[in-house]
Amino acid sequence: MIIAIDGPAASGKGTLARRIAAHFGYQCLDTGLLYRAVARDLRAAEQPLDNVEAAEWAARSLDPATLDDIGLRHPGVGEAASVVAKIPQVRAALLAFQRDFAAQEPGAVLDGRDIGTVVCPNADVKLFINADVEVRARRRFEELSGRGEPVTYDRVLETIKARDARDSGRADAPMSIAADALLLDTTNLDIEAAFDAAVGLIKRKIGQQD
Ligand code: CDP
Repeated sequence: MIIAIDGPAASGKGTLARRIAAHFGYQCLDTGLLYRAVARDLRAAEQPLDNVEAAEWAARSLDPATLDDIGLRHPGVGEAASVVAKIPQVRAALLAFQRDFAAQEPGAVLDGRDIGTVVCPNADVKLFINADVEVRARRRFEELSGRGEPVTYDRVLETIKARDARDSGRADAPMSIAADALLLDTTNLDIEAAFDAAVGLIKRKIGQQD
């Protein structure tokens, strides 16, 4: 069983993915961490983010054991991740790891931008999670300021808009809604309500397939 969850920054997809995986007893992969880790490793090697060769090398030599590095959650790393994520060689280098992860039994949940469209086009269930950009910015602002990061709401809104544009506008595997994805708008839903709605959509979809 493969559950693909895509959506823009701060839509709630990461939290939903983890909760859905725990609910069904599946493994969960936050694929954004892969791109974040590539950006981290490039910076550590003192290479610019648009150095294609170095970025491909960083993606190919990525150690999955380093994905729980707390530094990957830093907002600047998310920005840098969306820059390296534009590089086709980076995306190609990360594909096999994601597909292997998705193939495990009894099932896997992967969240990202291109899971339902590119990584797992045959996923059993595809969810696309969205919310109004102001609501997403408010959530991200509260998350970051709660962690003591020196951010303002306006700056967070600006960076989320820029990231949406970069992720949707890139040529290779842009963030887009798979034709067979189920849409869930979390603008007016708290995490409990979003989780209930997502589980309902998944059960209905799986029921349809039985
Ligand atoms: O948590 P948040 O949504 O802010 O970011 P993330 O999911 O960790 O993703 C960081 C960046 O990695 C995104 O802005 C994308 O550019 C890129 N990414 C991607 O291109 N494809 C994926 N499957 C996942 C992330």
